[in-house]
Amino acid sequence: MKFQVITLFPELITAGASSGVLSQGIKKNLLSVSTINPRDFATDGHRTVDDRPFGGGDGMLMLPEILEASVAKARESGPTRVIYLSPQGPVLTTDKVRKLAELSNVTLVCGRYGGIDQRALNVLVDEELSIGDYVISGGELAALVVIDGVSRFLPGVLGHEASAEKDSFSNGLLEHPNFTRPREWQGQSVPEILLSGNHPKIEQWRRQIAILVTLQKRPELLGAIPKAEIEAAKAFAAGLSPGDKEACGLGGLGL
Ligand SMILES: C[S@@+](CC[C@H](N)C(=O)[O-])C[C@H]1O[C@@H](n2cnc3c(N)ncnc32)[C@H](O)[C@@H]1O
Repeated sequence: MKFQVITLFPELITAGASSGVLSQGIKKNLLSVSTINPRDFATDGHRTVDDRPFGGGDGMLMLPEILEASVAKARESGPTRVIYLSPQGPVLTTDKVRKLAELSNVTLVCGRYGGIDQRALNVLVDEELSIGDYVISGGELAALVVIDGVSRFLPGVLGHEASAEKDSFSNGLLEHPNFTRPREWQGQSVPEILLSGNHPKIEQWRRQIAILVTLQKRPELLGAIPKAEIEAAKAFAAGLSPGDKEACGLGGLGL
């Protein structure tokens, strides 16, 4: 999958893509991340890319013809979906990340300062995407969030030991808690079932604990889980030992 990022701060994108899962995916040729700097399309000696808003107000706006030239550059590599990172777009979800992972070429437009002339957005952008209901100073961190989240769903990017399909949100639930050595730490023990080697039972236990964790932290996510399963998980919680409840961080559940 090809990601092209239109940005005045290409070094932020290069740095973000140069370690961890992204750099592994790039090394394996499963994805590429390149940048297009709008400043390269400025036509004056000052390399101007933005101007003050008509009507007054704070923040410089990217000039429409600068975005136009930047998007044209991105389209030289073939058809590409142009996405503007914007606090005004729909907030990114797992479903959206999965859908984006089916595309082969995505161009991410990063605003800075006051943003971008609206007419350019109307004409050049296919969709807007937000990373949450708050404003950050530029689209680069948001673009990296999108690239990272999407790349996790590209086959082969995560090693076989890890799978995006097991993470929180992938099945509508938060992930169950996980434990490593030592078996006892600060008076808390790893739940016995996880040491049993009985994998079908462990999977069943993890599913019920995941429902309880979701019930405690993000109950609004449980809409798609059958009511009977939630009730069964609550009954299961009633039978959990106080030690397991504490170790799993389920103290706030009141069950
Ligand atoms: C300071 S913001 C401009 C915000 C704009 N004036 C507004 O209020 O909608 C500069 C740039 O940061 C990016 N940005 C800020 N918050 C974002 C968010 N929550 N999600 C995605 N991108 C965001 C956008 O690319 C935006 O053009």
